[in-house]
Amino acid sequence: MTQKICVLNGPNLNLLGTRQPEIYGAETLADVESAMTKLAGDKGFQLGFFQSNHEGAIIDQIHAARDEAAGIIINPAAYTHTSVAILDALNTFEGPVVEVHISNIHKREAFRHHSYVSLRADGVIAGLGTRGYLAALDFMMATLA
Ligand code: DQA
Repeated sequence: MTQKICVLNGPNLNLLGTRQPEIYGAETLADVESAMTKLAGDKGFQLGFFQSNHEGAIIDQIHAARDEAAGIIINPAAYTHTSVAILDALNTFEGPVVEVHISNIHKREAFRHHSYVSLRADGVIAGLGTRGYLAALDFMMATLA
C-alpha cells in the first residue's frame, strides 16, 4: 500500500535559489522537490509538498497529515526558533517526524541554536545543504518500509 510522506517548508523557503545563496545554495524549492520525487521513485511512497509563509497554514497541514500521512519531513525555517504552536501540532501527529535545516543552525546566530520542533523530531538534519532533504527522505522511507 502507498504511504504518504508530507514535506513541509516554512517561511521564505519559496525563495530558495535566490535567497542568500551563500547560505542556502542555488537550488530552488522546485529542484529539491523533483530530486525528492526521483529518490522516492517507485518505492511505494507518495510525497505531498507544501510551503507556506504563514504559521497557521503550516499547522493546518500538520493537522491534515494526522489522517493522511505516515511521516512528516519539516523545515519550519524561522518558526523553528519561535513556534510553540507548530511544536504542539507536531505533538498530535503519531508518525515519524524529521526536522531539516539547510544551513547548520548551530554555526549561526545564537537565536538559531534553539529549536522548539526538536523537542518532537525523531531526527534532525542541519548543515548538509539541500541534500538534507534527501537524507531525511532516505531515513523516512527506511523507517516506514
Ligand atoms: C533554516 C534555518 C533557519 O534559522 C532560518 O530561519 C531559515 C532556514 C535552514 O534551512 O537552514 O529560514 O531553517
